[in-house]
Amino acid sequence: MPPRKRVYSGIQPTAVMTVGNYFGAVQNWVRLQDECDCVYCVVDLHALTAPYDAAELRRASREMFVSLLAAGIDPDRTTVYIQSTVPEQTELCWLLANLTSLGDLSRMTQFKEKSGLLGGGSGEDGAFIPAGLLFYPVLQAADILAYRADRVPVGQDQSQHLELSRRIARRFNSRFGYLFPEPETLHATVTKVLSPADPTRKMSKSLGPRHYIGLFEEEDSVRRKIRSAVTDSGVAPRTGDTGEGRASPGIENLLTLLAACGHADDARRMRDDYFAGTLRYVDLKGLTADALAVLTAAMRERRADILGREKDLDGRIMAMGEQARAMAGETLARAREKMGTFRPAT
Ligand code: TRP
Repeated sequence: MPPRKRVYSGIQPTAVMTVGNYFGAVQNWVRLQDECDCVYCVVDLHALTAPYDAAELRRASREMFVSLLAAGIDPDRTTVYIQSTVPEQTELCWLLANLTSLGDLSRMTQFKEKSGLLGGGSGEDGAFIPAGLLFYPVLQAADILAYRADRVPVGQDQSQHLELSRRIARRFNSRFGYLFPEPETLHATVTKVLSPADPTRKMSKSLGPRHYIGLFEEEDSVRRKIRSAVTDSGVAPRTGDTGEGRASPGIENLLTLLAACGHADDARRMRDDYFAGTLRYVDLKGLTADALAVLTAAMRERRADILGREKDLDGRIMAMGEQARAMAGETLARAREKMGTFRPAT
Protein backbone atom coordinates (compact mmCIF):
# COMPACT_ATOMS: atom_id res chain seq x y z
CA MET A 1 0.00 0.00 0.00
CA PRO A 2 1.38 3.44 -0.87
CA PRO A 3 1.90 5.67 2.16
CA ARG A 4 -1.03 7.87 3.07
CA LYS A 5 -0.96 11.41 1.77
CA ARG A 6 -0.10 14.05 4.32
CA VAL A 7 -2.79 16.75 4.61
CA TYR A 8 -2.15 20.07 6.33
CA SER A 9 -4.42 22.99 7.04
CA GLY A 10 -4.74 25.92 9.39
CA ILE A 11 -7.60 27.91 10.88
CA GLN A 12 -7.59 31.33 12.48
CA PRO A 13 -8.31 31.38 16.22
CA THR A 14 -11.73 32.88 16.89
CA ALA A 15 -13.60 32.37 20.14
CA VAL A 16 -16.61 31.06 18.24
CA MET A 17 -16.61 28.42 15.52
CA THR A 18 -19.58 29.11 13.26
CA VAL A 19 -21.65 26.63 11.27
CA GLY A 20 -20.07 28.42 8.30
CA ASN A 21 -16.57 27.36 9.46
CA TYR A 22 -17.89 23.88 10.08
CA PHE A 23 -19.71 23.22 6.79
CA GLY A 24 -17.22 25.31 4.81
CA ALA A 25 -14.01 23.69 6.05
CA VAL A 26 -13.86 21.73 9.28
CA GLN A 27 -16.34 19.02 8.30
CA ASN A 28 -14.13 18.28 5.30
CA TRP A 29 -11.08 18.16 7.59
CA VAL A 30 -12.92 15.60 9.69
CA ARG A 31 -13.66 13.45 6.62
CA LEU A 32 -10.08 13.63 5.36
CA GLN A 33 -8.92 11.85 8.52
CA ASP A 34 -10.26 8.59 7.08
CA GLU A 35 -7.99 8.62 4.05
CA CYS A 36 -5.03 10.77 4.95
CA ASP A 37 -2.48 11.49 7.58
CA CYS A 38 -3.71 14.87 8.78
CA VAL A 39 -2.12 17.78 10.61
CA TYR A 40 -4.32 20.73 11.63
CA CYS A 41 -3.20 23.96 13.19
CA VAL A 42 -4.78 26.88 15.06
CA VAL A 43 -2.76 29.71 13.55
CA ASP A 44 -2.36 32.13 16.43
CA LEU A 45 0.91 33.53 15.05
CA HIS A 46 -0.87 34.53 11.86
CA ALA A 47 -3.50 36.25 13.99
CA LEU A 48 -0.84 38.63 15.33
CA THR A 49 -0.86 40.43 11.99
CA ALA A 50 -4.28 42.00 12.70
CA PRO A 51 -5.09 44.23 15.69
CA TYR A 52 -5.89 42.05 18.73
CA ASP A 53 -6.02 41.80 22.49
CA ALA A 54 -3.44 39.45 24.06
CA ALA A 55 -5.68 37.77 26.66
CA GLU A 56 -8.48 37.48 24.15
CA LEU A 57 -6.18 35.84 21.60
CA ARG A 58 -5.01 33.16 24.02
CA ARG A 59 -8.60 32.46 24.98
CA ALA A 60 -9.67 32.27 21.33
CA SER A 61 -6.84 29.86 20.53
CA ARG A 62 -7.88 27.52 23.34
CA GLU A 63 -11.50 27.77 22.24
CA MET A 64 -10.66 26.94 18.65
CA PHE A 65 -8.56 23.97 19.76
CA VAL A 66 -11.48 22.58 21.80
CA SER A 67 -13.93 23.37 19.01
CA LEU A 68 -11.88 21.34 16.54
CA LEU A 69 -11.91 18.34 18.87
CA ALA A 70 -15.65 18.72 19.48
CA ALA A 71 -16.29 18.99 15.74
CA GLY A 72 -14.67 15.61 15.23
CA ILE A 73 -10.94 16.12 14.79
CA ASP A 74 -9.60 13.02 16.47
CA PRO A 75 -6.32 13.57 18.33
CA ASP A 76 -5.63 9.82 18.31
CA ARG A 77 -5.38 9.83 14.52
CA THR A 78 -4.54 13.43 13.74
CA THR A 79 -2.00 15.96 14.93
CA VAL A 80 -3.91 19.06 16.00
CA TYR A 81 -2.01 21.86 17.69
CA ILE A 82 -1.64 25.58 18.32
CA GLN A 83 0.98 27.18 16.08
CA SER A 84 2.91 29.05 18.77
CA THR A 85 3.67 25.79 20.61
CA VAL A 86 5.96 24.80 17.72
CA PRO A 87 8.91 27.23 17.53
CA GLU A 88 10.54 25.00 14.88
CA GLN A 89 8.09 26.41 12.38
CA THR A 90 9.03 29.96 13.16
CA GLU A 91 12.68 29.18 12.57
CA LEU A 92 11.83 27.47 9.31
CA CYS A 93 9.91 30.62 8.39
CA TRP A 94 13.15 32.60 8.67
CA LEU A 95 15.08 30.10 6.58
CA LEU A 96 12.37 30.14 3.91
CA ALA A 97 12.19 33.95 3.95
CA ASN A 98 15.53 33.86 2.17
CA LEU A 99 14.05 31.82 -0.64
CA THR A 100 11.10 34.17 -1.05
CA SER A 101 11.18 37.25 -3.22
CA LEU A 102 10.04 40.56 -1.85
CA GLY A 103 8.33 41.23 -5.17
CA ASP A 104 6.21 38.10 -4.78
CA LEU A 105 5.20 39.05 -1.26
CA SER A 106 4.23 42.59 -2.13
CA ARG A 107 2.12 41.33 -5.04
CA MET A 108 -0.05 39.08 -2.85
CA THR A 109 -3.68 40.14 -3.15
CA GLN A 110 -4.35 39.57 0.55
CA PHE A 111 -1.39 41.75 1.50
CA LYS A 112 -2.53 44.53 -0.80
CA GLU A 113 -6.08 44.35 0.53
CA LYS A 114 -5.17 44.22 4.19
CA SER A 115 -2.46 46.85 4.00
CA GLY A 116 -4.86 48.99 1.97
CA LEU A 117 -7.45 48.73 4.75
CA LEU A 118 -4.85 49.92 7.22
CA GLY A 119 -4.37 53.02 5.14
CA GLY A 120 -1.32 51.77 3.29
CA GLY A 121 -2.73 52.46 -0.12
CA SER A 122 -3.91 55.94 0.66
CA GLY A 123 -0.56 57.30 1.77
CA GLU A 124 -2.10 58.73 4.92
CA ASP A 125 0.37 59.75 7.57
CA GLY A 126 0.66 57.47 10.53
CA ALA A 127 -0.68 54.30 8.91
CA PHE A 128 1.08 51.40 10.54
CA ILE A 129 1.46 48.33 8.37
CA PRO A 130 3.16 45.54 10.30
CA ALA A 131 5.83 43.70 8.31
CA GLY A 132 4.16 40.56 9.68
CA LEU A 133 1.38 41.19 7.19
CA LEU A 134 3.91 41.02 4.36
CA PHE A 135 5.51 37.92 5.89
CA TYR A 136 2.20 36.14 6.43
CA PRO A 137 2.57 33.86 3.37
CA VAL A 138 6.14 32.86 4.34
CA LEU A 139 4.88 31.67 7.71
CA GLN A 140 2.07 29.85 5.94
CA ALA A 141 4.61 28.14 3.67
CA ALA A 142 6.65 27.20 6.75
CA ASP A 143 3.52 25.69 8.34
CA ILE A 144 2.90 23.49 5.36
CA LEU A 145 6.48 22.61 4.50
CA ALA A 146 7.50 21.84 8.10
CA TYR A 147 5.20 18.82 7.85
CA ARG A 148 6.17 18.10 4.25
CA ALA A 149 2.49 18.11 3.38
CA ASP A 150 1.22 16.86 0.01
CA ARG A 151 -2.24 18.41 0.13
CA VAL A 152 -3.71 21.53 1.62
CA PRO A 153 -7.49 21.92 1.85
CA VAL A 154 -8.23 25.65 1.67
CA GLY A 155 -10.69 28.05 0.11
CA GLN A 156 -10.14 29.82 -3.21
CA ASP A 157 -8.90 32.90 -1.38
CA GLN A 158 -5.77 30.97 -0.37
CA SER A 159 -4.77 29.80 -3.88
CA GLN A 160 -2.20 32.51 -4.28
CA HIS A 161 -0.57 31.70 -0.95
CA LEU A 162 -0.41 28.05 -1.92
CA GLU A 163 1.16 28.88 -5.27
CA LEU A 164 3.81 30.82 -3.39
CA SER A 165 4.41 27.88 -1.02
CA ARG A 166 5.07 25.68 -4.05
CA ARG A 167 7.43 28.23 -5.51
CA ILE A 168 9.37 28.39 -2.23
CA ALA A 169 9.54 24.58 -2.04
CA ARG A 170 10.77 24.38 -5.62
CA ARG A 171 13.41 27.03 -5.04
CA PHE A 172 14.65 25.27 -1.91
CA ASN A 173 14.77 21.89 -3.63
CA SER A 174 16.68 23.14 -6.63
CA ARG A 175 19.16 25.18 -4.63
CA PHE A 176 19.83 22.86 -1.68
CA GLY A 177 18.61 19.45 -2.80
CA TYR A 178 15.25 17.81 -2.46
CA LEU A 179 13.46 18.17 0.83
CA PHE A 180 9.92 19.45 0.25
CA PRO A 181 7.06 17.94 -1.75
CA GLU A 182 5.22 20.69 -3.62
CA PRO A 183 1.94 21.01 -1.74
CA GLU A 184 -1.19 20.73 -3.87
CA THR A 185 -4.29 22.77 -3.16
CA LEU A 186 -7.26 20.60 -2.32
CA HIS A 187 -10.41 22.41 -3.42
CA ALA A 188 -12.99 20.11 -1.92
CA THR A 189 -16.67 20.57 -2.57
CA VAL A 190 -17.58 22.34 0.60
CA THR A 191 -20.74 24.21 1.49
CA LYS A 192 -20.65 27.98 1.46
CA VAL A 193 -22.93 29.35 4.13
CA LEU A 194 -24.12 32.95 4.01
CA SER A 195 -25.20 35.38 6.69
CA PRO A 196 -28.85 34.83 7.71
CA ALA A 197 -29.26 38.59 8.17
CA ASP A 198 -27.64 39.49 4.86
CA PRO A 199 -27.54 36.52 2.50
CA THR A 200 -25.44 38.42 -0.03
CA ARG A 201 -22.46 38.09 2.31
CA LYS A 202 -20.53 35.18 3.74
CA MET A 203 -21.48 34.03 7.23
CA SER A 204 -18.99 35.84 9.40
CA LYS A 205 -18.42 36.66 13.01
CA SER A 206 -16.96 40.02 12.20
CA LEU A 207 -20.26 41.30 10.78
CA GLY A 208 -21.96 40.92 14.18
CA PRO A 209 -24.07 38.32 16.03
CA ARG A 210 -27.04 38.42 13.63
CA HIS A 211 -24.76 37.37 10.82
CA TYR A 212 -23.60 34.01 12.11
CA ILE A 213 -24.75 30.90 13.92
CA GLY A 214 -22.28 29.35 16.31
CA LEU A 215 -21.66 25.63 16.11
CA PHE A 216 -22.26 25.40 19.87
CA GLU A 217 -24.96 28.04 20.07
CA GLU A 218 -27.96 27.62 22.37
CA GLU A 219 -31.18 26.48 20.74
CA ASP A 220 -33.19 29.61 21.54
CA SER A 221 -30.85 31.94 19.81
CA VAL A 222 -30.35 29.59 16.85
CA ARG A 223 -34.13 29.55 16.39
CA ARG A 224 -34.38 33.31 16.74
CA LYS A 225 -31.73 33.88 14.08
CA ILE A 226 -33.41 31.49 11.65
CA ARG A 227 -36.83 32.98 12.34
CA SER A 228 -35.57 36.45 11.47
CA ALA A 229 -33.45 35.28 8.53
CA VAL A 230 -33.89 37.42 5.44
CA THR A 231 -35.89 35.69 2.70
CA ASP A 232 -37.66 37.49 -0.13
CA SER A 233 -41.05 39.09 -0.67
CA GLY A 234 -42.57 35.75 -1.55
CA VAL A 235 -42.57 36.00 -5.31
CA ALA A 236 -40.69 33.04 -6.64
CA PRO A 237 -38.22 34.19 -9.28
CA ARG A 238 -38.65 32.15 -12.43
CA THR A 239 -35.77 30.16 -13.77
CA GLY A 240 -33.61 32.58 -15.68
CA ASP A 241 -34.31 35.57 -13.48
CA THR A 242 -31.67 34.67 -10.97
CA GLY A 243 -29.74 32.08 -12.94
CA GLU A 244 -30.20 28.35 -13.34
CA GLY A 245 -33.16 27.50 -11.17
CA ARG A 246 -31.78 29.26 -8.15
CA ALA A 247 -34.05 30.71 -5.52
CA SER A 248 -33.35 34.08 -3.91
CA PRO A 249 -30.13 34.21 -1.82
CA GLY A 250 -31.96 34.01 1.51
CA ILE A 251 -34.01 30.97 0.49
CA GLU A 252 -30.98 29.30 -1.10
CA ASN A 253 -29.05 29.79 2.11
CA LEU A 254 -31.76 28.16 4.22
CA LEU A 255 -32.01 25.27 1.75
CA THR A 256 -28.24 24.91 1.86
CA LEU A 257 -28.21 24.79 5.65
CA LEU A 258 -31.05 22.27 5.70
CA ALA A 259 -29.26 20.02 3.21
CA ALA A 260 -25.92 20.39 4.99
CA CYS A 261 -27.54 19.22 8.23
CA GLY A 262 -28.35 15.93 6.52
CA HIS A 263 -31.81 16.74 5.15
CA ALA A 264 -31.05 16.91 1.45
CA ASP A 265 -34.38 15.28 0.55
CA ASP A 266 -36.41 17.86 2.43
CA ALA A 267 -34.33 20.60 0.86
CA ARG A 268 -34.95 19.24 -2.63
CA ARG A 269 -38.66 18.97 -2.03
CA MET A 270 -38.84 22.50 -0.64
CA ARG A 271 -36.92 23.88 -3.58
CA ASP A 272 -39.50 22.29 -5.88
CA ASP A 273 -42.28 23.82 -3.78
CA TYR A 274 -40.56 27.18 -4.04
CA PHE A 275 -40.60 27.11 -7.82
CA ALA A 276 -44.15 25.80 -7.78
CA GLY A 277 -45.05 28.82 -5.68
CA THR A 278 -46.36 26.68 -2.81
CA LEU A 279 -43.52 26.90 -0.32
CA ARG A 280 -44.43 28.42 3.03
CA TYR A 281 -41.36 30.11 4.37
CA VAL A 282 -42.34 29.34 7.97
CA ASP A 283 -42.12 25.64 7.11
CA LEU A 284 -38.68 25.98 5.58
CA LYS A 285 -37.49 28.03 8.54
CA GLY A 286 -39.04 25.57 10.98
CA LEU A 287 -37.28 22.53 9.48
CA THR A 288 -33.98 24.38 9.14
CA ALA A 289 -34.12 25.58 12.74
CA ASP A 290 -34.96 22.04 13.93
CA ALA A 291 -32.04 20.58 11.98
CA LEU A 292 -29.63 23.20 13.31
CA ALA A 293 -30.94 22.70 16.84
CA VAL A 294 -30.13 18.98 16.60
CA LEU A 295 -26.66 19.67 15.20
CA THR A 296 -25.72 22.32 17.73
CA ALA A 297 -27.07 20.27 20.65
CA ALA A 298 -24.90 17.31 19.63
CA MET A 299 -21.91 19.62 19.23
CA ARG A 300 -22.50 21.23 22.63
CA GLU A 301 -22.67 17.82 24.23
CA ARG A 302 -19.37 16.74 22.69
CA ARG A 303 -17.77 19.96 23.72
CA ALA A 304 -18.97 19.57 27.31
CA ASP A 305 -17.71 15.97 27.25
CA ILE A 306 -14.24 17.05 26.19
CA LEU A 307 -14.07 19.85 28.72
CA GLY A 308 -15.26 17.45 31.42
CA ARG A 309 -12.64 14.86 30.52
CA GLU A 310 -9.83 17.31 29.90
CA LYS A 311 -9.01 18.48 33.42
CA ASP A 312 -5.80 20.05 32.23
CA LEU A 313 -6.54 21.62 28.88
CA ASP A 314 -3.31 23.58 28.64
CA GLY A 315 -1.38 20.40 29.45
CA ARG A 316 -3.16 18.72 26.56
CA ILE A 317 -2.36 21.65 24.28
CA MET A 318 1.34 21.39 25.22
CA ALA A 319 1.35 17.63 24.66
CA MET A 320 -0.14 18.05 21.19
CA GLY A 321 2.46 20.72 20.55
CA GLU A 322 5.21 18.25 21.49
CA GLN A 323 3.87 15.81 18.95
CA ALA A 324 3.90 18.47 16.25
CA ARG A 325 7.37 19.66 17.31
CA ALA A 326 8.79 16.20 16.77
CA MET A 327 7.53 16.22 13.20
CA ALA A 328 8.52 19.80 12.41
CA GLY A 329 11.86 19.33 14.19
CA GLU A 330 12.86 16.54 11.86
CA THR A 331 12.24 18.68 8.81
CA LEU A 332 13.94 21.69 10.36
CA ALA A 333 17.06 19.64 11.14
CA ARG A 334 17.33 18.66 7.50
CA ALA A 335 16.70 22.22 6.34
CA ARG A 336 19.41 23.61 8.65
CA GLU A 337 21.83 20.96 7.48
CA LYS A 338 21.20 21.74 3.81
CA MET A 339 21.25 25.51 4.29
CA GLY A 340 24.46 25.54 6.31
CA THR A 341 23.32 26.73 9.71
CA PHE A 342 24.08 25.17 13.08
CA ARG A 343 21.69 23.29 15.26
CA PRO A 344 21.29 24.65 18.77
CA ALA A 345 22.46 22.59 21.75
CA THR A 346 19.52 20.90 23.43
N1 TRP B 1 -4.10 31.73 5.77
C1 TRP B 1 -5.08 30.72 6.09
C2 TRP B 1 -6.46 31.38 6.16
O1 TRP B 1 -6.56 32.56 6.43
C3 TRP B 1 -4.80 30.05 7.40
C4 TRP B 1 -3.52 29.27 7.35
C5 TRP B 1 -2.37 29.56 8.00
C6 TRP B 1 -3.32 28.09 6.61
N2 TRP B 1 -1.43 28.61 7.74
C7 TRP B 1 -1.96 27.70 6.89
C8 TRP B 1 -4.10 27.33 5.76
C9 TRP B 1 -1.42 26.58 6.29
C10 TRP B 1 -3.54 26.21 5.17
C11 TRP B 1 -2.20 25.85 5.44
O2 TRP B 1 -7.44 30.71 5.98
